[in-house]
Amino acid sequence: MKSFTNVKDLGDLNEAIKEALEIKQNRFSYKHIGENKTLLMVFFNSSLRTRLSTQKAGMNLGMNTIVLDVNQGAWKLETERGVIMDGDKPEHLLEAIPVMGCYCDVIGVRSFAQFESKTFDYEETILNQFIRYSGKPVFSMEAATGHPLQAFADLITIEEYKKTERPKVVLTWAPHPRALPQAVPNSFADFMNEANVEFVITHPKGYELDEKFVRGARVEYNQEKAFEGADFIYAKNWAAYQDPNYGKILSQDRSWTVDSAKMNLTNNAYFMHCLPVRRNMIVSDDVIESPQSLVIPEAANREISAQTVLKRLLQ
Ligand code: CP
Repeated sequence: MKSFTNVKDLGDLNEAIKEALEIKQNRFSYKHIGENKTLLMVFFNSSLRTRLSTQKAGMNLGMNTIVLDVNQGAWKLETERGVIMDGDKPEHLLEAIPVMGCYCDVIGVRSFAQFESKTFDYEETILNQFIRYSGKPVFSMEAATGHPLQAFADLITIEEYKKTERPKVVLTWAPHPRALPQAVPNSFADFMNEANVEFVITHPKGYELDEKFVRGARVEYNQEKAFEGADFIYAKNWAAYQDPNYGKILSQDRSWTVDSAKMNLTNNAYFMHCLPVRRNMIVSDDVIESPQSLVIPEAANREISAQTVLKRLLQ
């Protein structure tokens, strides 16, 4: 594997899940693979889980780790080509990237959608520049349009907790006070469409995701109907994708918050969310604190998804 940006990079998904579960059983058995290798994690945006779990995954493989917070202590980076650099950004990403590549063997990049240009975001301009100019294997730690390490961890979690061979998995939009990227729901859809699950997406009208990720999955505008018989409820907010509303908040309808009344419509479903989560906007206190909540096991599996990906990039 030369880079990791989407589900296809994993090849056979069943093999990848099997490998991940084996790694989980003995996460130090590949410690020799990363010996004398350096992992560079570049953050253009904040993180708790990705930062800690990916660093831990690298350590499990014997790697050294360098973390660069671009917005804290580094030169401000220009990302657009052709700009006359007479402003407050003294360094261009096109020099910074190959320089970063000199100091490491694998690079992880976190760079969220900026919602200034849909083309800039959906062409994954920043992540692709790292892939093109760093000279090193690159993996997404959540980019503008995808969060594949999260979706892989989510799939591992579903595999561990599912009670039927082909569970019903519902991705539901839920309200949030800020405009959030579509990266998590995009990647979740990307992975669920490849997995052996019955996949349903529910959201208010106007929140349709890019068909590249939805790929014909059932979209149900009635959240309660979507929840009927569900085995897993995956909640997430996202801002509008479709033009002319790209990046906008169209609704903050709290009737879409996942609460116990909604969960009672399901097949005693597990509740999932990638975290961080706004309680009583996305999900009620009682649901996230219930025994059916998988938010902590999901977060724990971020170490496993990252380690599986790093192992493959090193090999
Ligand atoms: N789920 C997730 O990626 O969490 P962080 O933003 O804290 O890394």
